[in-house]
Amino acid sequence: MDEAASCFSRASVVPIMILFILHQSFIAESTTLVLNILSFGAKPNGVTDSTHAFMDAWSAACASSDSSTIRVPNGMYLLPTAMGFKGDNCKSPGITFWIDGTLVASSDYQILGQADNWLSFETVTGVSIIGGALDAKGSSLWACKLAGSTDCPSGATSLSFTNSKNIRIDGLMSLNSQMYHIVINGCQDVHIQGVKIIAAGNSPNTDGIHVQLSRNVAIFDTSIKTGDDCVSIGPGTKDLWIEHISCGPSHGISIGSLGKDLEEEGVQNVTVKDAIFKGGQNGLRIKSWARPSHGFVQSVQFLDVVMHNVQNPIIIDQNYCPHNVNCPGQVSGVKVSDVLFRNIQGTSATAIAVNLDCSAANPCRGIKLENVSLTCKKQVAQSYCSNAIGKTSGLVHPTSCL
Ligand SMILES: *[C@@H]1O[C@H](CO)[C@@H](O)[C@H](O)[C@H]1NC(C)=O
Ligand SMILES: *[C@@H]1O[C@H](CO)[C@@H](O)[C@H](O)[C@H]1NC(C)=O
Repeated sequence: MDEAASCFSRASVVPIMILFILHQSFIAESTTLVLNILSFGAKPNGVTDSTHAFMDAWSAACASSDSSTIRVPNGMYLLPTAMGFKGDNCKSPGITFWIDGTLVASSDYQILGQADNWLSFETVTGVSIIGGALDAKGSSLWACKLAGSTDCPSGATSLSFTNSKNIRIDGLMSLNSQMYHIVINGCQDVHIQGVKIIAAGNSPNTDGIHVQLSRNVAIFDTSIKTGDDCVSIGPGTKDLWIEHISCGPSHGISIGSLGKDLEEEGVQNVTVKDAIFKGGQNGLRIKSWARPSHGFVQSVQFLDVVMHNVQNPIIIDQNYCPHNVNCPGQVSGVKVSDVLFRNIQGTSATAIAVNLDCSAANPCRGIKLENVSLTCKKQVAQSYCSNAIGKTSGLVHPTSCL
């Protein structure tokens, strides 16, 4: 500290420091590069292909060593083909898509149908998607699949993040994906909030949010109505937090299918809190193949959940083996342990409200039912247990078979 500085009293140092901080944040804000997609040639008319404008804006944002915001104003932007946003050569510390408009795919499903993803982000860090809507126009592909035709393409996931870090998706709406709506794969530190997902209740393979091989993913304040899982949780998911979510119709929040492969990473530390399920196939599900596997599910908490007329409100199914093929021995190697169901209330659409069907080779351990109250309108609600070990506390209805 020099002579002059040492003469400052404490009282005068503090305001100077505040001024300094204000000055710094003003500079930081003023150097955020704002890139308007219209100035890259995008047309908000829903019919002009705006792919090049989006790719050019991404390149410009990447090339800058400042943070960037890519502005997508109101309107419809046609993005008919698969687009990859890659981060390997990005200099930017953070890129935000600030979207007021809607990104639309082609209504001809053949154009995107063979692609894995419509919009995919790979090896990016610090990317945020704020607002906006994605309309993948998947309904004609669903119709092809529902008609039982064998030559339908599998379809593209609408939005995926792969091998990425520090991701935020806030206030996005995703409509009518061909396949999954949002996939988080191989990522770390992902915050999803205020997302709305909508597809028909009978649309095939349209999972809302799929997470796998990822750590520290949080999903808050989200509403999902779709034809497959609301949230599906794949191998290698750790420290997943889901809070204040509405599902349904859907196939529920599903850990699995797991254990298809012998060598597979486990699922660990998953919390679902404050969830509501409306109709549909499942509420809270853990599902594994009846196949040899080193996979596992450990430390899962389901807290404060309401069920409205759900076919399987609570279900562990370790005997998944469609058409009874490729399941040598017909038992699952996946070890399920420490799963808590606390404060689960509401109605089941079938008599078996609690179904714990675990592996004969690896019984479920540490299953805990606490304050569970599920009724069925037409019949007496029941529990089913097979190879499940655990305990109950508080009021549990239907009477537990643990
Ligand atoms: C479990 O995950 C949450 C985030 O979802 C994290 O805050 C917590 O520390 C994790 N617990 C353990 C024991 O790792
Ligand atoms: C279980 O329910 C009872 C009665 O509604 C309540 O007093 C208690 O706090 C609940 N326990 C938990 C762990 O939520």
